[in-house]
Amino acid sequence: MSQQHQQHRQEWNAVDDYFTDLLAQPDDALTAALRDSEAADLPHINVTPNQGKLLQLLALTQGARRILEIGTLGGYSTIWLARALPADGRLITLEYKPEHAEVARGNLARAGLDKLTEIRVGPALELLAALGAEHAENPAPFDFVFIDADKANNPHYVEWALKLTRPGSLIVLDNVVRGGAVTDPDDTDPGVRGTRAALDLMARHPKLSATAVQTVGTKGYDGFALARVRD
Ligand code: SAH
Ligand code: DHB
Ligand code: MG
Repeated sequence: MSQQHQQHRQEWNAVDDYFTDLLAQPDDALTAALRDSEAADLPHINVTPNQGKLLQLLALTQGARRILEIGTLGGYSTIWLARALPADGRLITLEYKPEHAEVARGNLARAGLDKLTEIRVGPALELLAALGAEHAENPAPFDFVFIDADKANNPHYVEWALKLTRPGSLIVLDNVVRGGAVTDPDDTDPGVRGTRAALDLMARHPKLSATAVQTVGTKGYDGFALARVRD
């Protein structure tokens, strides 16, 4: 990495620390969630505190009563999101790895969110099909969907999000920059291809109005896409 790039990264980190201290300080439950995630050797790919706070503010603005998350890890983003729910709200989060779900279960219980949240374990595509079947009578149960799992399946997750939402629902797709590779139509990386396919779907689907934003900070260079289901 060039010296200039290192210097930029130091600046991004300093500004992220400043914003986080000022506006998005994690409390004891969030801090303990990261500590236990670390102790269990989970990868450090959770949202940052200021990104978590953004998700929470979006869910609050949305008046979300039902939230779907795809990709739980240790439940860090789950805690930020579930705290946006009213007392009778519900968040369902989908996780492939039982050992991640186990850590998340402890973290959510410590945060006092075990009654509001449900972790379902398995391949998200199967769990989504089951959710779709459960809600066949009432096919629009979620006000807010956060997609943050295996990037190769992103287009399928957006399709499912469309089936499981209503006009006015919000869909957030994490990690859309892929180190800049997202612009390359010939890239063969499954995560790049999946992310491009998901963005294409957001762009052309008549039921969606979408945008994408690049971010820098303690997680480096990345970004997210936001799509609203049209009225
Ligand atoms: N949302 C979390 C981070 C999620 S990391 C946070 O910000 O705190 C991505 C997670 O998706 C990992 O835990 C990984 O095990 C899970 N995952 C990967 N492939 C999956 C699949 N096919 N179905 C469900 N979960 C999957
Ligand atoms: C990765 C996954 C994420 O959800 C994220 O926010 C950052 C990185 C990854 O798989 O590398
Ligand atoms: Mg992510």
